[in-house]
Amino acid sequence: MYEEPAPNVTVGMRGITIISAWAVIVMSSNVSSVGSFAWNAHRNKFISCSSLSSKERPPISTNKQITRCPSKLFSGGFGSTSNTKKKKQQKSKTMSPNQAKRATQELLQRYGGDIQKGTQSRIDASLSSLPPHLQEAATLYKQLTQFDALVSPMTESDRKRLIPPEQWEIAARDRFKLEQLLKEHSLSENDLHNLYQRITWNASADAKATRADIAGNKMKGDLQERISRACSIVVDAVMKTSPQGRTGKVLDIGCGHGSIVPSLVDAGLEELDSYVGIDLSEEMIRNAIERYGSDRNKQGKGRVFIADDFLTHDFSKYGDEVAIDSLGVFGAVIFCSSLHDLPDMEKCIGRAASLLLPGGKLVVVHAQGATHVLGQRSCNPVMVQRGLPTTKEWLEMIDKHREDWKLILEYEPADPRSDKDEKEGYLAVLAKE
Ligand SMILES: C[S@@+](CC[C@H](N)C(=O)[O-])C[C@H]1O[C@@H](n2cnc3c(N)ncnc32)[C@H](O)[C@@H]1O
Repeated sequence: MYEEPAPNVTVGMRGITIISAWAVIVMSSNVSSVGSFAWNAHRNKFISCSSLSSKERPPISTNKQITRCPSKLFSGGFGSTSNTKKKKQQKSKTMSPNQAKRATQELLQRYGGDIQKGTQSRIDASLSSLPPHLQEAATLYKQLTQFDALVSPMTESDRKRLIPPEQWEIAARDRFKLEQLLKEHSLSENDLHNLYQRITWNASADAKATRADIAGNKMKGDLQERISRACSIVVDAVMKTSPQGRTGKVLDIGCGHGSIVPSLVDAGLEELDSYVGIDLSEEMIRNAIERYGSDRNKQGKGRVFIADDFLTHDFSKYGDEVAIDSLGVFGAVIFCSSLHDLPDMEKCIGRAASLLLPGGKLVVVHAQGATHVLGQRSCNPVMVQRGLPTTKEWLEMIDKHREDWKLILEYEPADPRSDKDEKEGYLAVLAKE
């Protein structure tokens, strides 16, 4: 629902300059000293993202942290209100111009006068407070991920021509060192991906949430319509799969500060108990609870916000007693601007499918579209491991996992750089048989 925060690493790729980009990367031995670099065709060189004008700056993506996140569970809600009442509550939250000005000033103050630089300082501080072995592993992981992202699209002959043998040797040595560290400390590359994700989103949660407050929790024009459309599909699926006399549930994966809660309510998700949001960043979850989860309804229930890793969290307790064991738990599962941030896309989709009730829907939406995500990937491959799945990739994955996923592609997403992507952003809808 929002732009990703400033990455602490960005790489671009154009011919021979790749070598100098790699040189920049390998020379930086300290995680916190690696800046954001992007290829600027006009200036014909790699330059720091922070020195680019906003027009020149490539789309950026985030880092979130990886670690074993202790499972922290928070619940809450607004109190049982009608849909109309909720809409009024939302409206009353819209800021006056004076309030917005004040909120902007206070936000700037919290980030030391510059949100981008402030975010980066918070990221740097978190990285340098890590235990030494984790700092070393994170640095190696970042350097290698960047190197791989640079060389993987090259032809064999370009690799030979453009990358000097010493660079390959350094990469091989770093790879070996990283493997050893992972083994020694029982870590995985996913842990390191999650580490960058968590640290980056923790650093930017306050800014993202406050900016959304200032904008009245709505995206601009077309973008909001795309989110609203996805939320209507989700709510419709929850209603249709609700067990008799009970409320169905939606799972919002990578829910951030709860940014789609108002859109789900607008689409008719009246029951507080119908919403479960999970996010790796505890700061995002803190902001979500503050906004959408501080009260409870009369039964002491409410929206549930979880700070944990989607891939490892145990969701069985959120289903109603009858449904959990044999079937799924949720009538709909949504990834809103988040699937590209999670590691191991295929595993994430499989997990999401396993949590769906028969007839439930899996919705993947990215209002800015698939092309935007590819831009984020080239800007920050540490945070964004790959682009969103194309229709062809969905069909292949569905076929490969036919027996366990039981998914059908109901609405085909736009391919990157297509007219459809420009016109409607990314939306994939899958139904569980
Ligand atoms: C681009 S933000 C989108 C937030 C929100 N859905 C929105 O549209 O505003 C991606 C979110 O995915 C979360 N995330 C990344 N990896 C995750 C994981 N393994 N489990 C749960 N959440 C994760 C991040 O913490 C981040 O808040």
